[in-house]
Amino acid sequence: MKYQNEINKRRTFAIISHPDAGKTTLTEKLLLFGGAIQVAGAVKSNKIKKFATSDFMEIERQRGISVATSVMTFEYNGILINLLDTPGHKDFAEDTYRTLTAVDSVILVIDSVNGVEEQTRKLMEVCRMRDTPVIVFINKMDRDGKNRFDLLEEIEKELSIHLHPMTWPINSGKEFKGVYNLHDKSLRLFTANTKGSDEDLFAVINLNDTMVDEKIGEKDAGTLREDVDLVDGVHGVLMVEDYLAAKVAPVFFGSAINNFGVKELLDTFIRIAPLPQCRPTSSRIVCPDEEKLSGFVFKIHANLDPKHRDRIAFMRVCSGKFERNKYYHHVRLDKDVRFSNPYSFMAREKSIVDDAYPGDVVGLFDTGNFKIGDTLTEGENFYFTGIPTFSPEIFKEVVNKDPMKTKQLEKGLLQLTDEGVAQLFTQHGGNKKIIGCVGELQFEVIQYRLLQEYGASVQLNTLPFYKACWITSDDPKKLEEFTRFKGANTGVDKDGHLVYLAQSEWFLNTERNNNPEIEFHFSSEVHKN
Ligand code: G4P
Repeated sequence: MKYQNEINKRRTFAIISHPDAGKTTLTEKLLLFGGAIQVAGAVKSNKIKKFATSDFMEIERQRGISVATSVMTFEYNGILINLLDTPGHKDFAEDTYRTLTAVDSVILVIDSVNGVEEQTRKLMEVCRMRDTPVIVFINKMDRDGKNRFDLLEEIEKELSIHLHPMTWPINSGKEFKGVYNLHDKSLRLFTANTKGSDEDLFAVINLNDTMVDEKIGEKDAGTLREDVDLVDGVHGVLMVEDYLAAKVAPVFFGSAINNFGVKELLDTFIRIAPLPQCRPTSSRIVCPDEEKLSGFVFKIHANLDPKHRDRIAFMRVCSGKFERNKYYHHVRLDKDVRFSNPYSFMAREKSIVDDAYPGDVVGLFDTGNFKIGDTLTEGENFYFTGIPTFSPEIFKEVVNKDPMKTKQLEKGLLQLTDEGVAQLFTQHGGNKKIIGCVGELQFEVIQYRLLQEYGASVQLNTLPFYKACWITSDDPKKLEEFTRFKGANTGVDKDGHLVYLAQSEWFLNTERNNNPEIEFHFSSEVHKN
């Protein structure tokens, strides 16, 4: 186990939330604790939502910023933490889903006022698919939020996960007085913009101590005692193995903007969060302590400068040691590649790295060799599974407005879809090119980039499809019949896999019922196993 010490030191995670719950603010406070930044406001949010969707330049500028914050590495109490950023805008949800394939755990931020929101649900579904351990941070306790018990019940019910409170709040909003740490048995009094120092922290040997009444008042002390009795009675001590098995999510209450509750969260995170984990591949399970390098690309970012069409491929190291200038095997292309300038990311600074270990993310300079999901090894032929492509939700036909630029358009479409910006389908009966995305904003980005980077001018016409399902069957004849019969409601994805383009849920269900020999899949993963 050559690299065990390096592996033991690393924790790789992402913060997820519905937009506006406080992900950016929490990220910044964590970086402050890690000493990776010195002042608040240093992390610019990669939120696109605040701008009109037609503000292309702003979208691109924001995308540029998000390269710098794609991976933030910092050290805290001897632990090297890799925080992988996820886009704030729901139209880029697929980017987030893919990033979640590269982490070992997540912190889920929930706004105490709004509770569980749409994106929270979707993101948790992805975490559940992969049994990713989750810690919940209930944010904005300085605002009049929902009743704490109701909120926990709502989260448990809506997200189908058992919660385990680690801290317990004393009121909320203007009356918010702080939290009681159920694990450490201490009381942290709320002050705005705390430095997380120990001035406002009090050890509580016995909750019945009058000191508690002095600190938070008799009435609130009484309520806290009752609450803690109840919570302790129900939950007891956190079983870390249940958290690691994604059966239980520890919960913290706080206020990110006030830096309150963040230290507790971080201290617990480094204590219990999983080390780099073993991962399934097409042929076997690969574990971090193997000597030979393996890793996969989960994100590709294009250069903003149209004159340089280079890209950065983000690779998560899964086993062994990654070294600069060493040749590795690019499994899909069956060729050996090496990297003279791989990047690592310390906070917002990109710098060249000589080596990287499991859990780390390296930025590989790419001139078009990489696709999302590509695997590098030291010769063995396998690829990491579980990096699915989900069905898009909006479909548009690509109409070439300039026949002189057909080649450029084709190249642009292929490259942009390799980056995972959108999915490309070719419809049967007419060979229409269809792009599918999760949100409208992506279409604007594509149209803009096709023109700027490839000189291809396109019109995008909305199509009445609701989902693209990958179809398979043990009986090739049935598939053939189905595609012949359904004509323009079928097509192929970029890799030539058959898809059914459903106009509505009703059509989809009808086809499923009428064709029991055909399987309808909502992610392309089926073709990788
Ligand atoms: P996001 O990345 O999840 O989208 O959320 P972000 O951190 O940007 O926070 C969304 C808004 O919520 C921000 O206000 C932020 O200041 C505020 N916020 C974050 N944590 C807390 C908290 O603990 N308490 C309260 N009361 N507010 C919090 P904004 O006005 O939208 O943006 P800004 O102008 O402050 O940047």
